[in-house]
Amino acid sequence: MMLPLLDKTRPLARQIYTGIRERILSGSLPPGMRMTSTRDMARQWGVSRTIVINAFEQLSAEGFVEARRGSGSYVAAGASWGGAAQRSRKGRSDAVDLAPPPTPPRGCGAFRTDRVDFRSGLPDLTRFPVATWQKLSRQVWSVLTPMDLSYGQPEGNRELREQICRLVGTKRGVRCHPDQVLVTAGTTQAVGIVTRLLIAPDRSSCILEDPITNDIVRIVENAGGTIEPVPVDDQGIRTDALPRGARPAMIYITPSHQFPTGATLPIQRRVSILQYARSHATYVVEDDYDSEFRFDAPPISSLQGLEPSCVIYIGTFSKTLFPSLRIGFVILPPALVARGRELKWFSDLHNSSPDQLVLARFIADGHFARYVHLMGKVYARRRAALVGALDRAFGSGVRVLGSPAGIHLCARFAGVRFTRSVVEAIDRAGVVVYPAEAHAIRKGRFTDTLLFGYGMLDIPRIEEGIVLLGRAFARLNAR
Ligand SMILES: Cc1ncc(COP(=O)(O)O)c(C=O)c1O
Repeated sequence: MMLPLLDKTRPLARQIYTGIRERILSGSLPPGMRMTSTRDMARQWGVSRTIVINAFEQLSAEGFVEARRGSGSYVAAGASWGGAAQRSRKGRSDAVDLAPPPTPPRGCGAFRTDRVDFRSGLPDLTRFPVATWQKLSRQVWSVLTPMDLSYGQPEGNRELREQICRLVGTKRGVRCHPDQVLVTAGTTQAVGIVTRLLIAPDRSSCILEDPITNDIVRIVENAGGTIEPVPVDDQGIRTDALPRGARPAMIYITPSHQFPTGATLPIQRRVSILQYARSHATYVVEDDYDSEFRFDAPPISSLQGLEPSCVIYIGTFSKTLFPSLRIGFVILPPALVARGRELKWFSDLHNSSPDQLVLARFIADGHFARYVHLMGKVYARRRAALVGALDRAFGSGVRVLGSPAGIHLCARFAGVRFTRSVVEAIDRAGVVVYPAEAHAIRKGRFTDTLLFGYGMLDIPRIEEGIVLLGRAFARLNAR
């Protein structure tokens, strides 16, 4: 019998078991064949006999080999299977088709360090106060009881909901009670829950800002929603373009800092949206994803604070702290609370309780406020550096859109079309850029616009990136 080669760095008994099992499955060790003795195998492989016996015990327990008293082990009958294992070896695989979706989800895809990568949506992950988080984790774990390790409530841990309620109440003017807070796995899950709460077979139309994060479009469509795009201009969603006569299931907006254009919705349009929601008996979903960072004035108060009965407010810790924490929240009008909790329960029961407790303490002890304050100053400087660098490199050929806020900005470049080949040429010059057109539902209005994330880039890197971008433009123009 030909023995498989062993890799001494991996568990030996497992390799022997797998090697023999595969040969039996494929039929190359036929039923009834007498197996080499464990003693001989051990000698041939140069391993201890115990290792071979362990592998044989497993094979025997699973029915691949049978021991016959006094005459050794034999390949058992009926153990070969020319199924998946065989076919995949011939190149035909039953594996799930892992072809990437047309546009990768926002959360996926690596941040490139071999280029100046202006990827948006990431805060500075190098500045997070890991030591503080570790200290708080130790404190939390030192007082956890065994029952704290059991299942928790779908709406989330009470301490965290109280902290969130206080935070959004003081910072964002949100009016709520902790019982209205549903802790979620970020905005992504919150939007999934909200769409399932609001979309019904006879009420599926969802008004979305255009452009908008691709992921939101996908989540809405996945929940059976029909997309009703409403264009965005320099002030945010154009309320004069809201569909008349429709019965929308919801209106999803990012009024503090429109994604991606960065516009802040003025009060007149906020009032129009609320009037529209009232007269159409629908809900406004307010995604307040990065409102904590506003550089020219205190953060704009939330829309929810104006009319809590018809606004569903969504917040996340992905931009203030870090996205892999997977904690966000939704503040539901009382009428939707019970069903919202049920949907969260169906989805994943609840968020990790220890993580929620650490976050609650992080907020309660003032670390959250201090960190957001510090990072607000950092991001303000980076944004100013980016605007300055764009101005130096492109002068009147560039127009920065939106308010001084958040961790990204959009800029329009006169006379440029960011086609795939242009973006690839820029990439070869050492910069990764992101066309805003990728977020457009109705294509064509943002072909000259780029989205620049600066959360993960320090000022020298931002400036270097824009110099390289200028050079790439010059080379493209010279062609
Ligand atoms: C518009 C918008 N909302 C919310 C989020 C945050 O999503 P999550 O909280 O699921 O990480 C993002 C992330 O990029 C976003 O672009």
